[in-house]
Amino acid sequence: MRGGANRYVVQPVSRVGGRLHVPGDKSISHRALLFGGIAEGTTEVRGFLASEDCLATLRALRALGVEIEQHATTHVIVHGYGPAALRAPGAPLDMGNAGTAMRLFMGLLAAQRFDSILIGDASLMRRPMERVAVPLRQMGARIETQDARPPVLIRGGARLHGIDYRLPMASAQVKSAVLIAGLGAEGITSVTEPAVTRDHTERMLRGFGVSLQQDGLHCSLAGGQALRACRIQVPGDFSSAAFFIVAGCLAAPDGLTICNVGINPTRTGLIEMLRLMGADIQLTPLDTDGPEPLADITVRASALQGVHVPEELVSLAIDEFPVFFIAAAVAQGETVVTGAAELRVKESDRLAAMADGLGRLGAECQLLPDGIRIQGGRLQGGRIDSCGDHRIAMAFAVASTRAAGTIEIDDVANVATSFPGFPETARSIGLRL
Ligand code: S3P
Repeated sequence: MRGGANRYVVQPVSRVGGRLHVPGDKSISHRALLFGGIAEGTTEVRGFLASEDCLATLRALRALGVEIEQHATTHVIVHGYGPAALRAPGAPLDMGNAGTAMRLFMGLLAAQRFDSILIGDASLMRRPMERVAVPLRQMGARIETQDARPPVLIRGGARLHGIDYRLPMASAQVKSAVLIAGLGAEGITSVTEPAVTRDHTERMLRGFGVSLQQDGLHCSLAGGQALRACRIQVPGDFSSAAFFIVAGCLAAPDGLTICNVGINPTRTGLIEMLRLMGADIQLTPLDTDGPEPLADITVRASALQGVHVPEELVSLAIDEFPVFFIAAAVAQGETVVTGAAELRVKESDRLAAMADGLGRLGAECQLLPDGIRIQGGRLQGGRIDSCGDHRIAMAFAVASTRAAGTIEIDDVANVATSFPGFPETARSIGLRL
């Protein structure tokens, strides 16, 4: 990192290209550890994302008594003895910046014999937790939040029973927390989502031998099923690849290939949104014996047109909007996104943070209650506050492929929560960061 430890200084470039790999998938890495920790036997995880968020999950499981060996950063072995072998942590479990970890652990701990407390960094302490606490209480859990936010206190010894829960918002974290609690509940637990969200929990639980019934937006499982340890190969994270997919669409006339990326269709809405804008994106599927589809993704620069994003794509691209808005800001014409109010409760209010940053680079945008309207045009240089949000920081680094001047991005340390090595990878394709 140049320009100070917590800041990127990015000079404009006119082309990028080459081949690159991105680190392992964050959602899948969290789940691999958590399920390995309550399975019976030895779970071997390769391609693990050793980022701050996933290391928070690893440390929390160790604090609960799970033995975990970490070899060569990305190779992790989890020794599981079933959920009953977990023991009370000696201190509050610190989930750092990781909303996924906190919410999934709420589901796990709700059925335990002991009390636990979940805390996090300043951003996580502001995030809504009642969305998980409400269904878990309906299952019989005893959970307290403070003004609907962390710290989350989970009282042990509750007997959980299955519920039929209709999620009020599209959230894979809420869905997963309820299903995980359902594993420790009596009877059947069912969830129905308002829109399709990432299904890594469902796919991975099957890999651990759990029987799940899925039908469209509905999923259910019977409580009391034991998880059998397994081997997991974590694919490259599509959400990390997204920064380079957009960089390539904006500035790779000779192509840019991102190798070995997970292309689970519940994650790849960005590809559809960019194709609607006229992007040239090719997928080369790769063989895998795991439950998650994989591909090399090749993108080539093309002229992008503004688009009204179909609302059904929003939940399939929920983490990719910061960098998608960069594409919209340099496209021809107007882009409108609605039905995306969830972006206001991510690591930052991503609608507000992106509108502010784009405004500083001279883009014209209008915030909507549940989305944004962006008029495509030319970007200047400027100074951006990432609001401590990893994806805002990386998105504005990509803007340097089209900006007329230097972009300085403050408060970038949290890039390490999802993408350790981002600056080096960005430089390897030609960004001047
Ligand atoms: C995630 C679900 C999404 C996503 C987050 C990871 C997961 O959050 O934004 O980065 O791993 O389940 P929501 O469930 O809040 O939409």
